[in-house]
Amino acid sequence: MCRNKNFFVLKNSPFKIVLHFYGSNNCLNTIKMEQQFDFAMIGLGVMGRNLLLNMADNGFAVVGFDTDASKTSALESAATVGTTVKGVNSLEAMVALLKKPRKMILLVPAGKPVDAVLTSIQPLLSPEDVVIDGGNSHYTDTLRRIEAQSTMGFHFMGMGISGGELGARTGPSIMPGGNYEAYLNVQPVLEAIAAKANGEPCVAYMGKGAAGHYVKMVHNGIEYAIMQLLAEVYDLLQHGQGYTNEQLHQLFRQWNEGDLQSYLMEITAAIFLQKDELAEGELLDSILDVAGSKGTGKWTSQSAMDLGTAIPVIDAAVTMRSISGLKTNRIQAAGLYSPPSKAIAIEPEEFEQQLHDALVSAIIICYAQGLAMLQKASTELGFEIPLQDAVKVWRQGCIIRSAMLELFYTVCSQNPSISNILLDPTIVRPIQASIGGLRSVVIAATKAGIPSMALSNALNYFDAFVSDKLPLNLTQAQRDFFGAHTYQRLDREGIFHSHWG
Ligand code: 6PG
Repeated sequence: MCRNKNFFVLKNSPFKIVLHFYGSNNCLNTIKMEQQFDFAMIGLGVMGRNLLLNMADNGFAVVGFDTDASKTSALESAATVGTTVKGVNSLEAMVALLKKPRKMILLVPAGKPVDAVLTSIQPLLSPEDVVIDGGNSHYTDTLRRIEAQSTMGFHFMGMGISGGELGARTGPSIMPGGNYEAYLNVQPVLEAIAAKANGEPCVAYMGKGAAGHYVKMVHNGIEYAIMQLLAEVYDLLQHGQGYTNEQLHQLFRQWNEGDLQSYLMEITAAIFLQKDELAEGELLDSILDVAGSKGTGKWTSQSAMDLGTAIPVIDAAVTMRSISGLKTNRIQAAGLYSPPSKAIAIEPEEFEQQLHDALVSAIIICYAQGLAMLQKASTELGFEIPLQDAVKVWRQGCIIRSAMLELFYTVCSQNPSISNILLDPTIVRPIQASIGGLRSVVIAATKAGIPSMALSNALNYFDAFVSDKLPLNLTQAQRDFFGAHTYQRLDREGIFHSHWG
């Protein structure tokens, strides 16, 4: 009979190879391979590979699937020595290696590829397994997939991930939503790999249904808006004041050391200095002024329109990307209309201060619009998004991380049901101190004929938001005049219709 049983686990092996040594004769009785992998990734593009390697770096045994053999070998060769990383080219092999309940993330292009993977994997999984779509899927697709969950036979979650290639490897911001029990299953892994802000992981449960993808979509809308604001300030300094790339670098770097500190400010400062490898000068000056997009900004605007919530800074950013695409028309129109001189006659030091203040106001206003939209979606779409947690996970790891988010986190933690952060007294102060700069900048840009749609929309939103009286009484009168659409009165209750003219 066997008496003493000892186990030897081969380090760095994708399998836990258990060597059973029995009794005094030390005979090798069996070699047993067990399902020992903690997590799987389906799709080993840049984001998938780096996220999976991040899990491995945090001590999890991981397996990655891709049909492209070069991607599975790239995964294994990029793994840190001592970590457990395996690449496979079949879903069956991947599933067989996973511990139960199985946990996996899909990082494949949004749309049909997600449905194709779900259909292929469905017969291989059990009801308690968790499949997470970590791509930038449209939230309505996520809702449809959640609906189909019961027939698919596994837990399905939608999850936003932000941070790009480096963030995926070293600590992204993660926005999971949907089935809460399924979330609890994956929470330890997600908390281990997420970026940390003041020691807290930048991952939290974003709410029911497609809340994770919805929060990521709004994140991207804010990302578009801040990028557009920075582009407008670049235009004003370059064409209005003749700043060189070196001067722009210095100024953006200086701003990045103060209240405007943010990831987007930091990379913009670096962009101004990047040399062109194919021509003289800086690379920025050789890049065509036509912006691409994958649709998430547009989806944010579309959803805001459906909800009836105003996000004009984000809308301006989406619109400016569309106008940038009209390059041929723009060249033709520039010849036809001879636009005015773009020079701005304000002392550089004064203008820099105005631009700083303009950015403070406009960026706060753009976050305020995005957060107000999340708050509305939370109730109207039934997502029950904890607003403070959305802000909490954006503080590090993601593209819109910035110093300002600490203030918004405090505001939303103290008042999680706030409809608009502009109503909080701690936000009133920085806005009051900087809105004059935004107004001066919009005036200067308008006079000089330099487009400033995002800056102007921020100011106009603010001016409308703080107006206790808007001229929309006239709109109501017009509607009632031509269409008997009725109106309400200021001085008495009820619905009224008048005979006009
Ligand atoms: C992120 C980014 C990421 C992607 C954008 C790009 O948070 O890491 O938002 O998801 O870079 O979606 O979007 P566009 O191609 O539409 O600019």
